[in-house]
Amino acid sequence: MDRIAITGGAPLQGEIAIGGAKNACLALMPAALLTDQPLTLTNAPRLADIATMRQLLESLGCEIAALQHGRALAISAARIASRTAHYDIVRKMRASILVLGPLLAREGAAVVSLPGGCAIGARPVDLHLSGLEKMGATLELREGYVHAQAQGGLRGAEIAFPFVSVGATENLLMAATLARGTTRLRNAACEPEIVDLARCLRAMGAQIVGEGTPEIEVQGVAALHGATHAVIADRIELGTYMLAPAIAGGEVELIGGGRALVGALCDLLEAADVSVEDTPRGLKVRRRNGIVRAMRVETAPYPGFPTDLQAQIMALLTQAEGESVISERIFENRFMHVPELARMGAEIAVHGGAATVRGPAALRGAPVMASDLRASAGLILAALAARGETVISRVYHLDRGYERVEEKLSAVGARIERLREPAR
Ligand code: UD1
Repeated sequence: MDRIAITGGAPLQGEIAIGGAKNACLALMPAALLTDQPLTLTNAPRLADIATMRQLLESLGCEIAALQHGRALAISAARIASRTAHYDIVRKMRASILVLGPLLAREGAAVVSLPGGCAIGARPVDLHLSGLEKMGATLELREGYVHAQAQGGLRGAEIAFPFVSVGATENLLMAATLARGTTRLRNAACEPEIVDLARCLRAMGAQIVGEGTPEIEVQGVAALHGATHAVIADRIELGTYMLAPAIAGGEVELIGGGRALVGALCDLLEAADVSVEDTPRGLKVRRRNGIVRAMRVETAPYPGFPTDLQAQIMALLTQAEGESVISERIFENRFMHVPELARMGAEIAVHGGAATVRGPAALRGAPVMASDLRASAGLILAALAARGETVISRVYHLDRGYERVEEKLSAVGARIERLREPAR
């Protein structure tokens, strides 16, 4: 397994290009199942999770061509050869559940393995399933698989989510495009990835209004058609790299994506005395001379502070003057980076769903282990501020969501390299 070695202390200077959003792309790809015509996605990120979704769609009979060196994906579901999403692919990635709504809507039947537990909490899919039942599907759980039937097709329904779920909103939004009649999703997720999905579905002929608000209305149509759609910028990659100069010092311009994608982070950085400036191409972040101020952070659905940036902001707060409190409201058990940060000298205490960070801590390089995708990003950021060398193992987690992280950071002056495992 590859590792990443970082020697901290170098201020950063230059620019970093932000890629297409992994989580948007993972919802857009299954949308191709809704039509027998090709869907072409441009600005696709080249990531392990995208390859897994590709493998899953191919197992269902999709033909997928990677164009522009993998930056564009042309997906054709002219013929659905299988309605079963098998465990050996689904277990690799929870977003696999997103094929359920589209398959059921198009084929009237689907068998999808339930995604297993996951390191950042229980993460059930009950909202996806109960929403589909409201749309007329009959579901049966057998041997770890959801067997879904909707003979005669899905029908529109009123679905009020008890709490906000990005994945459930996406699954039901896709299913509703081909349902008979009107579907209303209440307390829907407002994330930019939902807006991107709705735009793509509309380009495919779907009738959707209200995306980006808690109430989305979908008028079902008989069929969708092909389209070409550009994936939005990855706000989590953007936020992660905004935090790099905030931690290491210096000034970095992030190219692609803007303030609207990361408003909550911009507000926190400015309150912590880190400058964020809009530029014609993106955002410029500069650590002012002084020390970063401590603060309170609470993760929340968009437009709140994203849980996917929680580990990264924690890395910054180890360098802030005073006591910061981070409350994790989306996923229980998402503090696995804390013991690793402590090995680098951070002072963090976890009480239930909150972490108290006392700073500024003099971080020292250490061998650390990545426990999940965003935790790895937090460790990289902390390593940029640490004295000496940090070696991060299990970077396959990182590769699921960050493209060429070592190239992007070394181009702005970070001392970072990938230690490749010798081929066996
Ligand atoms: C998506 C993102 C993930 C991000 C998360 C929150 C993708 C592929 N993943 O995950 O990176 O961290 O949004 O922004 O886009 N829940 C249920 N029942 C359900 C569905 C969700 O109880 O049926 C709970 C979850 O356990 C969690 C909360 O609802 O506590 C939010 O989950 P959700 O927004 O659905 O997250 P994901 O779609 O899994």
